[in-house]
Amino acid sequence: MGMEHPVSLNLRVRGLEHSATLAINQRSSELQALGREIHRLGLGQSPFPVPPSVIASLREHAEVKDYLDVRGLGSLRDSVARFHQRRDGVSISAEQVLVGPGSKELLFLLQLAFYGDILVPTPCWVSYTPQARILGRKVRTIPTRFEDRWQLTPEHFARICDSDRDRHRPRLLVLNYPANPHGLSYTEDELQGLADVARHYGVILLSDEIYGELRFDGDHRSVARYYPEGTIISSGLSKWCGAGGWRLGTFSFPAELRTLRESMTSVASETFTSVSAPIQYAAITAFDFGPEIEGYVSSARDILARLADFCFRRLSNAGIRIHPCEGGFYLFLDFGPIQDALRDRNINDSDTLCERLLEETGVATLPGRRFERPDDELSLRMAFVDFDGEAAMQALAQLGEGGLPADLASPVNEGFVRTHCASVCTAMDKIESWVHEMTSATTGPSRRDVAA
Ligand SMILES: Cc1ncc(COP(=O)(O)O)c(C=O)c1O
Repeated sequence: MGMEHPVSLNLRVRGLEHSATLAINQRSSELQALGREIHRLGLGQSPFPVPPSVIASLREHAEVKDYLDVRGLGSLRDSVARFHQRRDGVSISAEQVLVGPGSKELLFLLQLAFYGDILVPTPCWVSYTPQARILGRKVRTIPTRFEDRWQLTPEHFARICDSDRDRHRPRLLVLNYPANPHGLSYTEDELQGLADVARHYGVILLSDEIYGELRFDGDHRSVARYYPEGTIISSGLSKWCGAGGWRLGTFSFPAELRTLRESMTSVASETFTSVSAPIQYAAITAFDFGPEIEGYVSSARDILARLADFCFRRLSNAGIRIHPCEGGFYLFLDFGPIQDALRDRNINDSDTLCERLLEETGVATLPGRRFERPDDELSLRMAFVDFDGEAAMQALAQLGEGGLPADLASPVNEGFVRTHCASVCTAMDKIESWVHEMTSATTGPSRRDVAA
């Protein structure tokens, strides 16, 4: 191999790590290639296939090859607008929608176009703050507490706004619910409260609702209902439609934020030009949300809800602090209650926690640090997606009319997830035994003792 050419890097990207989720995926593959049994709970990717009608639509449009409107195909934007009208009760027209190659890219453009501070409650999705840093934006993380269900309370939000000397400085608050990394959602009262504070201080909300359809009770509410004039709603095909690799995301803007939308559109026209044409046609079928898609999303929720509950019960029994997940496919584990035992075994930060868990049990997860939690907080995110979603959906369909019991704790549900989500269930068994081993007084000398 030749010598590397010396390249001078932009200071803002110097030292930037690869996106955390992609790195854990690669490490899991390496260990698997060495013959280790790995439970892949690191990468947050939908386990379900893309619905057949959406695939059919993609096939049908494979020959469409022209560049499309930078904002997105008119009929797709129409379909997205109707989707939000139905779901969120907001009056959005096709004009107000922008389609991009994933909501991640749109979020990047938003942070580029918006001039002001970015506020992000933590734990938060891994890419919000690196994006802000790449762009040189001032980002203020707002640590939330387990006791507040990891949610930003309206009182806390108001205190943050008040504490600024310039109370009306341009600010953008990123909300995400159901959330990555903890699966919790805001209540209606909380959304109303946050909306009131945002309106009072003129804060723009970026409401990342990419997991909205996967809220288990099917009752996802957008904060745009309470603050329509200041909320941008983010959605896309990646999570509820199982099509992360297709790369299609959407932002829906209020009419009041036209200038921001147009600036982002100009940047889009100078960068990605337009999203892949066949994907846009297929996305119309998805956002039209006909009975097939509705059935698909509903069975995805059914399966995820049972599995989430199973994991929650097992992990809390093991002594880990955790909230039940309300939607999506993540749980955020706080090992605080057993931290003394872990620290005795030289596990003093979340990176080491995840490394040791991976090495000693084969369960791949992501450290809390990646979600902007303090380095020494012993927390991690688990994505309970290591199962064949297609087979699980087929098995659910074979159960017929009644489907799975509504009582999540029913043994029938447990039997279902044990059979169809076996790797995730085994991972729970392994975490449970690992915790037991860590906390058991009868284990051998700790590594610290050995080292000493
Ligand atoms: C909370 C959240 N927002 C946004 C995204 C980005 O999704 P995409 O770019 O695939 O639309 C993800 C993906 O993991 C996510 O978890």
